[in-house]
Amino acid sequence: MNITALTRRDLGALENFHDLDPTQDDFRSAVLDGLGHRQKAISSKFFYDQRGSQLFDAITELPEYYPTRTEIGILRRYAREIEAAVGLEPVVVEFGAGSVVKIRLLLDALRAPVFVPIDISREHLVRSSRELAADYADTRVIAICADFTRDILLPADLPTKNRLGFFPGSTLGNFTREEAARFLERARTTLGPGSAFLIGIDLRKDEETLHAAYNDSQGVTAAFNLNLLRRINREIGATFDLTKFRHEAPWVQEKGRIEMRLISTESQSVIVAGQRFHFAAGEHIHTENSHKYDVEEFQALARGAGYDPSKVWVDDAQRFSLHYLKA
Ligand code: AVI
Repeated sequence: MNITALTRRDLGALENFHDLDPTQDDFRSAVLDGLGHRQKAISSKFFYDQRGSQLFDAITELPEYYPTRTEIGILRRYAREIEAAVGLEPVVVEFGAGSVVKIRLLLDALRAPVFVPIDISREHLVRSSRELAADYADTRVIAICADFTRDILLPADLPTKNRLGFFPGSTLGNFTREEAARFLERARTTLGPGSAFLIGIDLRKDEETLHAAYNDSQGVTAAFNLNLLRRINREIGATFDLTKFRHEAPWVQEKGRIEMRLISTESQSVIVAGQRFHFAAGEHIHTENSHKYDVEEFQALARGAGYDPSKVWVDDAQRFSLHYLKA
């Protein structure tokens, strides 16, 4: 679906939709490439088909998954301080059209005249952007369907002054530390001189809390992880039997991250897009990293990417941090 294929009804109050077309080919070649490595791996950015997005929404409501509600608590509690630091009426560019609750809190606090959500999931992007365009009559919503891990060209007519990147949810934690630094550098170039960034980062904490957040008792995270195989079966043609893989998400201390894995429960072969891949019993596909940081560690990373970490807000239990960085 591109801009011309979207009808006025699809778009509703959303007048500006730019489709940079993160194509199907990317998914197919990424999967084939990832399964061809000695350590099989598939990027977590492919979790988010329609069902994956719904399952992620369900994760954010789980009692064990503290990041979302903690970050919302920080945005609510420190709205005034955030406004004082950022200033009113910034052009907000959100990397990932994630939580509508969070962006509403930010738009309410800052009264942004322009809001630019960038997301890889077209349906999710259109739905949430339409909703916001309808509810925020004074905000111009310009939605961009793109993979923000790549270079993004912002619309030429976007005001260059007072741009604020918004990257909540600790999605940056899904990048390795090197990738995170590169992403921040690139975003600084994309947003331009004088811009700033508001970014949510999950903090290091006791292993028990982390383990519970990624291995919930209702099995929603397991379903989210396994859904990737379902998506591969459907979209690129594969024979994954979901009953022969199980979810696991250990804390890997030396890397400071949770790793999501899909473990093959037996020796088996799977055909993917006509190619055969063998799995030994116990072998896993690495599907996600979720890095956790100390405040100082993240600030050092931000400095290395050319930012001045000028402010940070943390909840009382020191679980989550919201950083204000100036380019
Ligand atoms: C989107 N991202 C920040 C989530 C996280 O916590 O790393 C994705 C997630 N994976 C399992 N649960 C949630």
